[in-house]
Amino acid sequence: DVPDREGRVANVALGFATADDYVRDSPYFGAITGRYANRIARGHFALDGVEHRLAVNSGTNALHGGLKGFDKHLWKAEATDAKDGVALRLSRTSPDGEENFPGTMPVEVTYTLTEANELRIDYRATTDKPTVVNLTNHSYFNLAGEGSGSVLGHVLQLNASRYTPIDRFAIPTGEIAAVTGTPMDFTHPTAIGARIRNDFEQLRLGFGYDHNYVLDRPDPDDSGLVVAAVAIEPNSGRRLETRTTEPGIQFYSGNFLPGSYVGTSHRIYRQSDGFALETQHFPDSPNKPNFPSTVLRPGETYRSTTIYAFSTV
Ligand code: BGC
Repeated sequence: DVPDREGRVANVALGFATADDYVRDSPYFGAITGRYANRIARGHFALDGVEHRLAVNSGTNALHGGLKGFDKHLWKAEATDAKDGVALRLSRTSPDGEENFPGTMPVEVTYTLTEANELRIDYRATTDKPTVVNLTNHSYFNLAGEGSGSVLGHVLQLNASRYTPIDRFAIPTGEIAAVTGTPMDFTHPTAIGARIRNDFEQLRLGFGYDHNYVLDRPDPDDSGLVVAAVAIEPNSGRRLETRTTEPGIQFYSGNFLPGSYVGTSHRIYRQSDGFALETQHFPDSPNKPNFPSTVLRPGETYRSTTIYAFSTV
């Protein structure tokens, strides 16, 4: 629950009323997605000359870790100490060969609710064989409150002057394109819905916004926290600032919310009733040598941090 500018609280994350609903069928509401969040083309990649075949679970692609990805497992949960708030540590070990990914992978994800109204998510993973990893959180937000209707009036700013255009299979073409002069440009605060119906090929291919943005960093080699996105809901004044150590963020305008999920407050969610800001490495990186690498090798530790900070304006 997050207060608005008058102090009235609302639940700003889409979800279900019961735990059973999540188990039955969820479009990744609030989920940790992995081992590889987002898409791998044709569920196929080669690593060190070895071919790996994953299940194709979304059109022609592997999406969000496969048929039984990280979102569909029950994780071990423990309360843990944090100097700046309260924390929950989630952990599980993904076995070697799970969903055909190589390597045993112990994973730890710590959620900290800080005194500053931030939700900080720290990810950590290791492996015993060379593998790929890309973890994110797939929360859908509606800063007016879940179940209150469309998010098209939210004003969004993305700290990204470039993005990765997609083909008709929603796979990046490999090109890194400038957003300038297109409806993809959120470098200045703009309503999500302002241009979503423009006749622009990328919006047709994504059925709206469903694109990876390349975050601007003063030093491209720096992987410290950077502000990736700011979303404001004008009526309530609620503001969500997303900071991350990741190189990219998938901005998804809830295009495939079908109108058949009944949410936490027993209201039906329809297309664009929520949006996601999935901090991540770029989609299909295992097949794109020009994208930042998602390879993890024995002896290395994967680390990633994302902060969702709430305030009002
Ligand atoms: C993808 C969408 C997909 C959604 C739910 C997002 O990360 O980019 O295409 O529909 O997840 O599966």
